[in-house]
Amino acid sequence: PVADIEVLNIIDSTNTYLKDRLAQVEPGHVCLAEAQTAGRGRQGRQWISPFGASLYVSLCWRFPAGYQSLNGLSLAIGIAVARALKRTGIDDVQLKWPNDVYWQGRKLAGVLIEVEGQMGGACDVVIGLGLNVQMPTEVDGITQPWADLYQALGETVDRNQLSAWVIEALWQVCEAFASNGFAPLLEEWHALDYFRDQPVTLLSGQRQQQGICRGVNAQGALLLEQGGQITPCYGGEISVRGQ
Ligand code: BTN
Repeated sequence: PVADIEVLNIIDSTNTYLKDRLAQVEPGHVCLAEAQTAGRGRQGRQWISPFGASLYVSLCWRFPAGYQSLNGLSLAIGIAVARALKRTGIDDVQLKWPNDVYWQGRKLAGVLIEVEGQMGGACDVVIGLGLNVQMPTEVDGITQPWADLYQALGETVDRNQLSAWVIEALWQVCEAFASNGFAPLLEEWHALDYFRDQPVTLLSGQRQQQGICRGVNAQGALLLEQGGQITPCYGGEISVRGQ
C-alpha cells in the first residue's frame, strides 16, 4: 500500500484539516504541517505548535461497519510511536494510558484521536500525533514538563526520515488493529507502561478515582485496583497521585 501524503506549511490543525475533508480523501491519507495555529490536544486543550519544531501529523483511517471497539486504538497508536522512535535510537520511552509518550518523566508526544460516524457502523477516524523534535528553548503556554528528540538523542534528527518512520509505523499498527484489535499488542504495551503498579488518580469528567494502576486489558481499558478489586475503566486520563 502507498500512503497519500500531503505536506502543508502553516495550518490551523492537521486534524481539523483532515476532518473537514473526510469525504474527499482516501483512507490512509496523511497530512503533515510545519506549524499549527490552532493545534488541539485532548480534553479541549491546545497543542502549542511552533514552526518546524515538532512533527504535526494526522492520518485518516476507515474502520468497517460492525467494528466493535475503538478503545484500544489509542493505545495501539502509542505503540506505533514507540516503534518509530526506536528506529531513531530511542528505546527508553514509556506510555501513559491512554496514549501519551514520555521520555525520562517528560512528555515527548501526544495523540488525539477523533471518530466520525456511528459506533457499530463504518467510521472514519482521524489520528493526530504531535511529536516534539527540536522545540525552542522557551515556549509559552505548555503547562506540563516536556522533552524533545533533540534532548533524548543529543543530536538533530532528520524530520523527513522521522516522518517516514512514523507514517510507516502508524499504517502498520492501524492495519494490524483493524484485523485483530488490541489484544495481540497487549504485551508490547505492558512492556512500555509508565504507571504499572503505581498509585494513580483517574480523572474522567468531574470524577476522580484513586487506586493502583494494574495495566490494561485486551480492550485497552485501564485496570484500576481499589480496595482489592480491579475495575476496567474506559475513559479519562491518569496522573500520579500527589502531582
Ligand atoms: C494530547 O496529548 O493532548 C494530544 C496532542 C495531539 C497533537 C496533534 S499535532 C497534530 C494533530 N493536530 C492537532 O490539532 N492535534 C494533533
